[in-house]
Amino acid sequence: MTQRQSPTATIVDIHTHVYTPLFMEILRSRDAVPYIRSFPPDTSDRLIILPGEDSPDTPATSRGRPIGPDYYDISKKIEFMDTHGIDISVISLANPWLDFLPTEDALRVTQQVNDELNNLCASYPGRLYAFGALPLSGSVAEVIQEIKRLAQLRYVRGVIMGTSGLGDGLDDPRLDSVWGALQETKQTIFLHPHYGLPKEVYGSRQDNYGHVLALAMGFPMETTIAVARMFLSGVWDKWTKLSVLLAHSGGTLPFLAGRLESCILHDRHIMEKGKDEKRRTIWDILQNNILLDSVVYARAGLKAATEVAGSDRILFGTDHPFFPPLTNEEGGKEEQWLSVTMNYRAVQEEFEPKTLDGILGGNAIRLLRLE
Ligand code: URA
Ligand code: ZN
Repeated sequence: MTQRQSPTATIVDIHTHVYTPLFMEILRSRDAVPYIRSFPPDTSDRLIILPGEDSPDTPATSRGRPIGPDYYDISKKIEFMDTHGIDISVISLANPWLDFLPTEDALRVTQQVNDELNNLCASYPGRLYAFGALPLSGSVAEVIQEIKRLAQLRYVRGVIMGTSGLGDGLDDPRLDSVWGALQETKQTIFLHPHYGLPKEVYGSRQDNYGHVLALAMGFPMETTIAVARMFLSGVWDKWTKLSVLLAHSGGTLPFLAGRLESCILHDRHIMEKGKDEKRRTIWDILQNNILLDSVVYARAGLKAATEVAGSDRILFGTDHPFFPPLTNEEGGKEEQWLSVTMNYRAVQEEFEPKTLDGILGGNAIRLLRLE
């Protein structure tokens, strides 16, 4: 049953992942993370994506997560959209994208996967757009070649990428021309975590806590540090129009932005080095270059996001197909996903109707040119 969340908004989900046919084939052919396989005697497929998820100490049935058609069948995405009143989805490959490809395959495979994404969008005109992937294990020239090609694909509006960039983080000077090409082609970067924090941070009892520490704490800290490095290296001082959409409402950046600014102002090394340059503050960048998704599940996070970026720069998302409802005790499944209804409730309670319509869809339509 469809549940409309606003009588007036076109609802857009900008954080929603898809495993395309070739991506699935590659994952099924691998035996190092990331990969898909079953662990006998269990016959169902499991998706192993996060570093260390397949440790032999972990029981087979807790390794990674079960993977079913929600992950790879686009008709299931449309069904999920219909169930939750979502009109348009901007689909993207899930982490770790194509970061692991051998250098020699990177461009060719990435082009094929991006064509698959664009074709999936074409099969449901008006309902699907996409963030493409980049051949980040290839050469810089190849990355730029694909950025320029993506700009010509009808349904692509930007790129999704992780925090490792070309392998040395987002403050890597080798990324300079990549940022330039993205700015020039007006494509938004959807920055999403994958690599988390070093395992030791979670301590010796981490296995007691399932995926909670890695997903609730590690992912947002990873994003926060990656974007802070990008900012500190002066990316936005040079590329003043570069637009970056941060997953999970910016990790903890909205909450820590003041501390970031203060630490800069009290750092002799940075302040002396940058004496003659006009440094843009994190506040300026949050209000002009950074977009935040709404995937924080509670009003406290939305308040911080609004305070720093403005409610016209917050975009609704679901993170589908991750965080499905746990199977009911009777063996059935909830129709409405708790991860989605929690997010809907938080934005509905936090924002008045006109602002809400922007967050639910208007902001995405305007900022990502979803005509
Ligand atoms: N877990 C992941 O690995 N990726 C997501 O996007 C969400 C949960
Ligand atoms: Zn996600």
